Amino acid sequence: MTVVLTARELTRHYEVSRGLFKGHALVRALNGVSFELEAGKTLAVVGESGCGKSTLARALTLIEEPTAGSLRIAGQEVKGASKAERKQLRRDVQMVFQSPYASLNPRQKIGDQLAEPLLINTTLSRVERREKVQAMMQQVGLRPEHYQRYPHMFSGGQRQRIALARAMMLQPKVLVADEPTSALDVSIQAQVLNLFMDLQQQYRTAYVFISHNLAVVRHVADDVLVMYLGRPVEMGPKEDLYRNPLHPYTQALLSATPTLKPDPTKPRIKIVGELPNPLDPPSGCAFHKRCPYATQKCSVDTPAFRPVGSRQVACHYAEQFLQ
Ligand SMILES: Nc1ncnc2c1ncn2[C@@H]1O[C@H](COP(=O)(O)OP(=O)(O)OP(=O)(O)O)[C@@H](O)[C@H]1O
Ligand SMILES: [Mg+2]
Repeated sequence: MTVVLTARELTRHYEVSRGLFKGHALVRALNGVSFELEAGKTLAVVGESGCGKSTLARALTLIEEPTAGSLRIAGQEVKGASKAERKQLRRDVQMVFQSPYASLNPRQKIGDQLAEPLLINTTLSRVERREKVQAMMQQVGLRPEHYQRYPHMFSGGQRQRIALARAMMLQPKVLVADEPTSALDVSIQAQVLNLFMDLQQQYRTAYVFISHNLAVVRHVADDVLVMYLGRPVEMGPKEDLYRNPLHPYTQALLSATPTLKPDPTKPRIKIVGELPNPLDPPSGCAFHKRCPYATQKCSVDTPAFRPVGSRQVACHYAEQFLQ
């Protein structure tokens, strides 16, 4: 077992202006996220819009500094790393975005774009680089003649294949994928997801896979982290979490996910009410206003994120749901 990514109490706050004369407010976009990820495994991160998934992705990929907490990539602590070490860390963690346009240069031939990481980070010759690029292109289902083409000449699914190929060129330890298939047609999604899985198997890359689609997560994850309003609410092995969700928010998310065979014995739980304003989160448990089981205690005491069964859960009553 090789742990390649360790996050400890990772936190990111943003100061935002409330408007003229009103001063500043703090958005607690990410609060105290901790996990360990092994080589070849996938941690899926799920939760509604604005719960901090992309903020976590930006912290993990060193795009943004965390406000607090620590991050260790391939055994190397990020905080205090030297310039040379940071350069290596940036190689070790790569990112795939929802829109491949965010990672591809529209004016550069895709062959050259795929070769670029090799040009910058290795001493391979031009011919060797080309060979590696051609091999990777083949692996992601592109044809050799695609080398000379520009991003706009590809379909959305193909562009996401190219973005994935580019991220994998230097065989990173960790790949962070932020909603990588949500912009694709459903028919294409499955193909691209399978490609993610194939590459992971071959290179033993660890994935942090962000998605609001629980059906997609079920397909790819080993472990699942559920976030609500910037906080982790439940984390654990996929099978357990899907079979017996412990946090009422996870229960609600899962019961809102369409399945082919709805289970009539399981009541559908609706999430009531609006997502709270992140600038003014509710007291106690941030979910209490929408939770069907909330008590007085929930509006006052913030539940700790603690071990319950095979999981960690931030709910005062998690044990009651344990089967
Ligand atoms: N640069 C920023 N400045 C201020 N607030 C920000 C910034 N980036 C994100 N936020 C806020 O932090 C919270 C989390 O945002 P984030 O983009 O991480 O959510 P998300 O889970 O990725 O949502 P989505 O599913 O819509 O992509 C939101 O309330 C958002 O408005
Ligand atoms: Mg996002």
